Amino acid sequence: MSNFAELSVNGKTYKLPIIVGTEDEVAIDISSLREQSGIITLDIGYKNTGATKSAITFLDGEKGILRYRGYPIEQLAEKSTFLEVAYLLIYGELPKQHELEKFKGEIKEHQLMHEDKKKIMDGFPSKSHPMGVLSSLVTTLTTFFPESLDPNRPDAKVDLTIKRLLAKMPPMVAWSYTKERGLPSNYPDNSLDYVSNFLKMMFALPTKAYEEDPIVTDAMEKIFVLHADHEQNCSTSTVRIVGSSQASLYASVAAGVNALWGPLHGGANQAVIEMLDNIVKDGGNTEKYIEKAKDKNDPFRLMGFGHRVYKNFDPRAKILKKQADIILNKLGVAAPELEVAKKLEEVALRDEYFVERKLYPNVDFYSGIIMKAIGIPTEMFPVMFSIGRLPGWIAQWKEMRENKEPIGRPRQVYIGEKVRDYVEISKR
Ligand code: SDX
Repeated sequence: MSNFAELSVNGKTYKLPIIVGTEDEVAIDISSLREQSGIITLDIGYKNTGATKSAITFLDGEKGILRYRGYPIEQLAEKSTFLEVAYLLIYGELPKQHELEKFKGEIKEHQLMHEDKKKIMDGFPSKSHPMGVLSSLVTTLTTFFPESLDPNRPDAKVDLTIKRLLAKMPPMVAWSYTKERGLPSNYPDNSLDYVSNFLKMMFALPTKAYEEDPIVTDAMEKIFVLHADHEQNCSTSTVRIVGSSQASLYASVAAGVNALWGPLHGGANQAVIEMLDNIVKDGGNTEKYIEKAKDKNDPFRLMGFGHRVYKNFDPRAKILKKQADIILNKLGVAAPELEVAKKLEEVALRDEYFVERKLYPNVDFYSGIIMKAIGIPTEMFPVMFSIGRLPGWIAQWKEMRENKEPIGRPRQVYIGEKVRDYVEISKR
């Protein structure tokens, strides 16, 4: 393969370097294009544009492959734990036993939140959406730890900032849940591991002893592992571009939480369950909703279907579909929405509209069903996604900074008015 692409515009030819990734992905590096020719490229939604070179996650949308630092997601979901995967994503290698224990210990040290946080929590109205509470709480970490504000400062303690954020995400999420329910907030219990501790902070009540259900803990561990990173998705790209302005990790991740909130992205799992509940209430008429999803005049979309990158299947959905059956059977939970989901999937996978557009169930299609079965309220689903995605956001922010990437600042094609003079209001 040639090392250069040639672009010919108006009789002139420009040479642009070709780069090839570890998995033989080919890209044309257009960094010098505007300088050479005054020409830019346009790719609304960045469907064909690489924003960076990254060594963190590899996914192949056609083949349904997803690997974190080279390790297949299927193996990590089966054999690893969420904190071990977080270490792998952030530091690049699987930890040795003593490294993992040290990592866990450092995170436990910082799980307790400042009591002043409670005053902030009291400021939120009782029915606040947990994502709005979470993004605000993540931003307030800059006020409690001002040394994090400038990650370039010699005493910025970036690694401590990373561990503090991993440590404080679960209590912040749990507090957003108890706040919304008008329940007392729970403190971390350092005798428990990360996921068990989180679930206890979510669900423990002062009125009765908290009993952990290993099925629920295992389900959440898998969901967090499967959500931990996904290369340059909308929220991760947000974290990277905010971080590229030299904003702190907390400010960058708070922006990522807000990007994830959208129903086309991390808010989809909440939208999936609300859609399935509506279909169940409407008598389970899946054909009607398949037709609505296909009708261009109907804004209804089949939430949990389709993906910008996966065009055959989302490997995470495959794992979670299996898990949904196992967990619901173990919990003895009858879930009519699961039956509707399976019927929707069955119909959609043979319907030309979906097949032609390569619309298959994505990670959100089954994660919502599992979380509902284990008692997570629907409005908390995007917040669960935030806990899962946090190691990925951190790893990508860290890589962007270590590679000293420039501030992100895309160009545009102007299609507005040509120059014109101001007209006094009396003459308009
Ligand atoms: C996540 O990027 C990531 O990695 C994200 C994520 C991660 O881990 O970070 O994987 C997590 O966000 C998963 C996606 C969750 N979102 C949803 O489930 C919402 C429903 N799906 C979509 O709205 C849509 O499929 C997207 C947003 C996921 C992808 O949109 P694209 O790639 O921009 O595709 P598109 O909107 O251009 O659609 C292409 C065609 C269109 O029809 P035509 O105009 O060609 O006739 O497919 C249709 C769309 O109308 N289409 C759907 C559909 N999704 C796309 N039609 C009905 N139902 C759907 N769900």
